[in-house]
Amino acid sequence: MVSASARPTPKSFHVKSFGCQMNAYDGARMAELMEAQGMVAADAAEADLVLLNTCHIREKAAEKVYSDIGRLARREGGRPMIAVAGCVAQAEGPEIPRRAPAVDVVVGPQAYHRLPELIGQAVAGGTALDTDMPAASKFDALPKRRRQGASAFLTVQEGCDKFCTYCVVPYTRGAEISRPWGQILDEAKALVDAGAREITLLGQNVNAWADGGRGLHDVIEALAAMPALARIRYMTSHPNDMADGLIAAHRDIEKLMPFLHLPVQAGSDRVLKAMNRAHDVASYLRLIERVRAARPDIAISGDYIVGFPGETDAEFEETLAVVREIGHAQAFSFKYSPRAGTPAATMADPVPAAAMEERLARLQALLGQQQHAFNEATLGRTCAILIERDGKRPGQRLGKSPWLQSVLVEGGAIGDLVEVEIVSAGPNSLIGEARVPAAA
Ligand code: SAH
Ligand code: SF4
Ligand code: F3S
Repeated sequence: MVSASARPTPKSFHVKSFGCQMNAYDGARMAELMEAQGMVAADAAEADLVLLNTCHIREKAAEKVYSDIGRLARREGGRPMIAVAGCVAQAEGPEIPRRAPAVDVVVGPQAYHRLPELIGQAVAGGTALDTDMPAASKFDALPKRRRQGASAFLTVQEGCDKFCTYCVVPYTRGAEISRPWGQILDEAKALVDAGAREITLLGQNVNAWADGGRGLHDVIEALAAMPALARIRYMTSHPNDMADGLIAAHRDIEKLMPFLHLPVQAGSDRVLKAMNRAHDVASYLRLIERVRAARPDIAISGDYIVGFPGETDAEFEETLAVVREIGHAQAFSFKYSPRAGTPAATMADPVPAAAMEERLARLQALLGQQQHAFNEATLGRTCAILIERDGKRPGQRLGKSPWLQSVLVEGGAIGDLVEVEIVSAGPNSLIGEARVPAAA
């Protein structure tokens, strides 16, 4: 800690989260922690303390933080106390205040329960830093869950031991850990008591969750027994952790929604090997077949990287072929971004920028068509949507279909499950008309 003059204790805060759902979950828990300290939530333009909860997955995401810090440091009406949390904090640590002296607090994803002390240090003067990965879990030190809206996230598994050669997550989030069974059920109960109708179980490899012989399907089954909880989801899964019990849960547990985010990353076995994915294309496709046999209407989502070092045109064509074979409801696709410290960053044969660009455009065009086709296939169907928030127009609400599509509807209250008929289907959203469900 560098000594400097004291500053006022912040009374209001703002959390801005980037990156994956786990960061959104951490952001919500940081907000609860600040509230438990007596601070109130405020806009970024006014808050005394702004927490940037950052993502390090690709270069663009990581660099964005510095422009945000610059903007906050020049904020009209005075600069806030600035805290950098999340994966950039973990990856860059003390480099951050060296590069951006306006930063007051740096805190890693496994240390944010210590924010109150760190803020205290920053108030006393200087920069406070904590990027430890302590053995004792942060979860024990965080306040009880409070209402987060109709749909809530619940982290059950964190970290990753898979070391895909392009990925920073094993370094920024640490080793794979599963939260204990009892702790998960307690948190789920607190969320449901606070009004959550849907819980999405989160993990970097959520389907690797295990505790005392139990697997993720046991967690899902226990949650499904909670009467006030209507829907259960989970993400992100790894193909090698897709246990039989979890596949069967898609057939047997009605509250488990028909949606699976299961990244394959690329369609060439040579590229998958260089990525250290530890699965091949054929085994992935067989897995999808088994999941579809258990739940025929399941929506399949995924992640793709184009332009991994050495990827040839022909290998990229294999990715397009796999996407055609799968038929996605939606999927994410990215240009490969070299990350310092990962094995792929020093691999030979980088793909030229122009080829990278063209491959991404072709893949996104195909995925866009598939998403639109999937949406159109729901036209005329009746399904329940969970209302999550207000739409743009007065009286309009936005809800999610079982397949995680956004559906606009007139009327209904947040947290309601509303039966709708899908009357219009665009590439990114649907329009539903409320229908009274037939009497049972
Ligand atoms: N644990 C999850 C999510 C990891 S990050 C999983 O294994 O699926 C989310 C996605 O970002 C990854 O699936 C991958 O497609 C992408 N990604 C990760 N590192 C990347 C990199 N260096 N460049 C481009 N995309 C990357
Ligand atoms: Fe990253 Fe691979 Fe782990 Fe996913 S499985 S978090 S892509 S190392
Ligand atoms: Fe980004 Fe960290 Fe999530 S790098 S994707 S915020 S685990």
